[in-house]
Amino acid sequence: MKALVKTESAVGLKLEDVELPTLGSDDILIKVQKTAICGTDLHIWNWDTWASNTIKTPMTIGHEFMGEVHELGANVQNFDVGDRVSAESHITGLNSRNAKAGKLHLDPDTVNIGVDRDGAFAEFIKVPAKNVIKLPDSIPDEIGAILDPFGNAVHATLSFDLVGEDVLVTGAGPIGIMSAAIAKHVGARNVLLTDINDNRLKLAKKVCDVETLNPLKEDLKAKMTEMGLKEGFDVGLEMSGSEQAIDQMMGAMIMGGNISLLGLPSDKIKFDLSKAIFKALNLKAIYGREIFETWYKGMALIDSGLNIENIITHKFHYSDFAEAFDLLNSGKAGKVILDWN
Ligand SMILES: NC(=O)c1ccc[n+]([C@@H]2O[C@H](COP(=O)([O-])OP(=O)(O)OC[C@H]3O[C@@H](n4cnc5c(N)ncnc54)[C@H](O)[C@@H]3O)[C@@H](O)[C@H]2O)c1
Repeated sequence: MKALVKTESAVGLKLEDVELPTLGSDDILIKVQKTAICGTDLHIWNWDTWASNTIKTPMTIGHEFMGEVHELGANVQNFDVGDRVSAESHITGLNSRNAKAGKLHLDPDTVNIGVDRDGAFAEFIKVPAKNVIKLPDSIPDEIGAILDPFGNAVHATLSFDLVGEDVLVTGAGPIGIMSAAIAKHVGARNVLLTDINDNRLKLAKKVCDVETLNPLKEDLKAKMTEMGLKEGFDVGLEMSGSEQAIDQMMGAMIMGGNISLLGLPSDKIKFDLSKAIFKALNLKAIYGREIFETWYKGMALIDSGLNIENIITHKFHYSDFAEAFDLLNSGKAGKVILDWN
């Protein structure tokens, strides 16, 4: 089968012919139809410090995908050949304290599809059946392929009560934009989304009806006054990993405000802990999705009318992968889909 493989310690990926995965008795073989490129894939493409320290070559990468059940392992029940499916990309263990307590998203033995084991940028992928999710008809194929990053947004955004709240989202990447859309959908009063890239703010306006601000060009305090916010934002969703954005968020929160931290800084950062303490802020770090409550809530949000389709800005055939990665590196795209049909 064809697969996009990191074959050596260098920038890029190679389209290779590789062996079909050998199915274990608890696995499902999925015929991949649509995949989406994540920031993690971009790190691996660019072969930055994180990627070169993490990825063991050769590795088929990719973890955002949907497809059709092709073959079932001997022990697999509740699925049929032909089912439309996606999958949770964190394969958790069963033995840690958290896993045993049912908190699978906190299992330290988690293995990541497309990072620690062969991934979805291929014609077929093998996934443990416990990680596979059936897609309802209400979820189109391309949305099915981005439920993983949408789940990051769902997890971070629904961590706090948002009804009637004023929400600051820093970072209008795909996850920040989807978070802003979720906050608005579930009843936040004001949602302000910031980014230093105007293309991203323009894209946000196509996905959801929220206020936007470029902190390099506009003053946040003036914007807050214009929005009628006297004491600050009730909820902060940090989706950039930027030291400046985190600092700006701390300064703009109400006393006792709640913050979800999802953005990953590329290096160690300076963080004014005193500011967080004197404001009595409640900080929650977010990793991945709650397995599987986040999937349930995310699909329910879409069922209840949340429309995130415009976050998908470009579609390529998988053989044009180099063009797709270059586009993403330019910062001019939202979610980019690779078609494996
Ligand atoms: N915690 C997790 O489980 C998890 C999972 C997936 C992604 N992530 C991280 O979440 C973040 C969001 O993911 P994404 O795919 O949307 O990333 P992305 O890189 O596409 O978006 C980040 C955005 O932040 C913006 N930004 C940079 N500096 C800023 C500033 N000072 N103020 C406001 N915005 C600023 C960038 O211009 C960019 O548009 C990334 O840092 C990613 O690495 C975390």
